[in-house]
Amino acid sequence: MLILGLETSCDETAAAVVQDGVAVCSNVVATQHDLHQRYAGVVPEIASRAHLERLMPVVQDALAQAGVAAGDLDAIAVGNRPGLVGSLIVGVSAAKALAWSLDKPLIGVDHVRAHLHAAQLVDAGDAPVAGPTYPALGLVVSGGHTSLYQLSEDGSATRLGRTIDDAVGEAYDKAGVLLNAGYPGGPNVDKLAQTGDPHGPDIPALPISMLSADSLDFSFSGLKTALLYAVRGHPEGRGKSATFPRSIDDLSDTRRADLAAAFQHAASQAVVRKLGRALKQGPQVHALVVGGGVSANSELRKRLTAFAQEHQLSLHLPAMAYCVDNAAMIAGYAALRLAQGDTDDLHLPVLATSRT
Ligand code: KG4
Ligand code: ZN
Repeated sequence: MLILGLETSCDETAAAVVQDGVAVCSNVVATQHDLHQRYAGVVPEIASRAHLERLMPVVQDALAQAGVAAGDLDAIAVGNRPGLVGSLIVGVSAAKALAWSLDKPLIGVDHVRAHLHAAQLVDAGDAPVAGPTYPALGLVVSGGHTSLYQLSEDGSATRLGRTIDDAVGEAYDKAGVLLNAGYPGGPNVDKLAQTGDPHGPDIPALPISMLSADSLDFSFSGLKTALLYAVRGHPEGRGKSATFPRSIDDLSDTRRADLAAAFQHAASQAVVRKLGRALKQGPQVHALVVGGGVSANSELRKRLTAFAQEHQLSLHLPAMAYCVDNAAMIAGYAALRLAQGDTDDLHLPVLATSRT
């Protein structure tokens, strides 16, 4: 079963061909980081226009690299929720046009649910990886989401908790700006943190938010503010009139790296401690399935590995190429839907929020 997947929910224009839900024949991602860098964040209008220009060349590359003719495809899948509506429309319109003109089924995929499929993806020709035993705990850590799920054999995902303010990836991106680490913040803070010591001289312990005693929700806005104060000192005044005693330029490279390490330490601990709480509260699970851009983070991967060992869970982490947004996860997850005969028609809407 060969599926072409399209992904345009945010700032990556992506297309991929995946066989039988797991074997990635091609995975083309045209990132827009160059366009959004100067704004230190994604500008929706710029993102939609760039998707429009880049999508069809990316689709053609994905088919060519897979050595597949459009007529050989069994279905067209597209991420249709959640995301920036203007960006989603570009991918969904293209997918509808392809499905209609090729007379193939159309499958709209929830981007967040697809992140939880990414750990199953392997390069075509490589041995498949063992799937999780259910029930499993699912964790999505991305720029838009930080959510915990209970995953069942039938493919359903019941949400147990989510961030009440910023997503962890969003906090990383802000940390990248505060620490002058470059855009996007996540990978750059990760790199900077590797040369730092979270317990270095005069480095404050940054907050690890656990919320109320039984909460499985997350919160990262306090961590962000604590990092701001650690970098620039406590402000005088409030809001726009606030003035800070220091700027990032007053910090030594060592201190910047130590603060990056302290931030990464607190962010990873906040995620892993919540997993511990979920295990104590929930039904027994056998596996931990992780996805989303922040699952590429070096410290989080180490901590998740140790956590899974300690609790005798099988750990399902995506290969690095499938952590951040990609269309292979969309095409891969769509295969499960197609196998159940669950397809969409040309009225498929785009939605800003996830149903998962
Ligand atoms: O899954 P994703 O590509 O997009 C969303 O669905 O949001 O995640 C992007 C997020 C960004 O915030 C980016 O900074 C973060 O993932 N990220 C990382 C790393 N690589 C990407 N965060 C921490 N460490 C990394 N190595
Ligand atoms: Zn994503």
